[in-house]
Amino acid sequence: MKELILPKKILLGCATAATQIEGGDKNSNWYHWSQKGKIANNESSIVAADHYNRYVEDINLMKEMNLEVYRMSIEWSRIEPKEGTWSQEGILHYQDEIKKLIKAGIKPLVTLHHFSHPQWFEEIGAWTNRDSVNYFKRFVKKVVETIGDYVSEYCTINEPNVFVTDTYMDGKYPPGHNDDIVSYFKAAKNLILAHLHAYQLIHKIRKKIGYDNTMVGFAHHLAYFECKNSNPLTKLSKRLMDYSFHGLFFNGMVNGHLTFPVGFGYPIGKGIYCDFIGVNYYSRHIIHPSKNPAMLFGEVKVEEDLPDFRVNDLGWELYPQGLYQVVKKTYDKYKLPIFITENGIPDAKDIKRSKFIYDHLAKICKLISDGVDVRRYYHWSLLDNLEWNDGYGPRFGLIEVDYDTLERNIRKSGVFYSKICKEKRVTKNMIETYL
Ligand code: BGC
Repeated sequence: MKELILPKKILLGCATAATQIEGGDKNSNWYHWSQKGKIANNESSIVAADHYNRYVEDINLMKEMNLEVYRMSIEWSRIEPKEGTWSQEGILHYQDEIKKLIKAGIKPLVTLHHFSHPQWFEEIGAWTNRDSVNYFKRFVKKVVETIGDYVSEYCTINEPNVFVTDTYMDGKYPPGHNDDIVSYFKAAKNLILAHLHAYQLIHKIRKKIGYDNTMVGFAHHLAYFECKNSNPLTKLSKRLMDYSFHGLFFNGMVNGHLTFPVGFGYPIGKGIYCDFIGVNYYSRHIIHPSKNPAMLFGEVKVEEDLPDFRVNDLGWELYPQGLYQVVKKTYDKYKLPIFITENGIPDAKDIKRSKFIYDHLAKICKLISDGVDVRRYYHWSLLDNLEWNDGYGPRFGLIEVDYDTLERNIRKSGVFYSKICKEKRVTKNMIETYL
């Protein structure tokens, strides 16, 4: 294993999402979803890692870990628990958290929709509702007017592709539809429009209060797809998957271009609606031809029969080369700065995480030396958290959370990452100690 030197311009940190760590909120759709027994082992989102009450302690840990940047999300239901009613408590909470982060020398990137929203929004059909974009705009306006003085970086929507897939095709997220392709595309369209409007709105508000250094983008789950065989039908399936999971969203969210089947043309004009592209990368997916010839989409699976050291606790293949491939392809096409907004591994025993970090950072060094403008790396995740419908089993944290006592403990890989954040390199000594 070689020493690594990371260019100074790439800032290193961690990412989280409100529902997965905060706890305490009964107005979000995920609380209601968990009350219906939809999370593994009947688990609830009500406590999570109790970050809402422990954010000061957690920021101290982030500081101890030398993080330079932190991606967090604001829970819409804490700001607007009832339609049109704003919670001063929620607003003050996030203002305080953000101010404390900045005081600790950690630059925040704020996500405005990370899979969860208020229950009232869920009850009106969420992103399939024709007014959803207006509701979201109103929320974004409120947030940016209250934190706009401190936060210059925003991520509008997290993984619109995973969100619509898990919500409308795979029944995992509320309201849990299966194979509901109509809602998939309806929601996809509104999420694209929500991003475009939020992009303009955030810039407008920040400009009005005197800032011109605003960066707005979205975080996309970029899966690295490969065909199981060279059969033309499998290749066609891959192209269709690539389009409906990636291309469709990029056309819309980057270029403002609605393409079939979500629409046609440029509803708010041709342009570039991203200042960076957020890449969430986890694994490689193999496209198998469908057994049902009417289903052109084929089936997406992980590579079969992999040895244990090649997979994580959820059985996903560890495939750092895929990060290089998806980022290079995206950068070559759009030439926009890249933020790696998520990359991580569920690894309860913490035996694979340090190598995972090393391998992915090595790919980032290669990307940068090949001319790709990668500016951020946010490891997923800071803390163990609620892995949505999979519950608390998967352990993604650099910091371990004991769910009985809520005590935090920086894992060995967390110490390794802290050293990388401080030194911006991986030395021989670190390789010997941690890998
Ligand atoms: C999501 C996270 C999630 C992570 C690991 C991403 O799809 O944005 O919320 O915990 O992957 O599955």
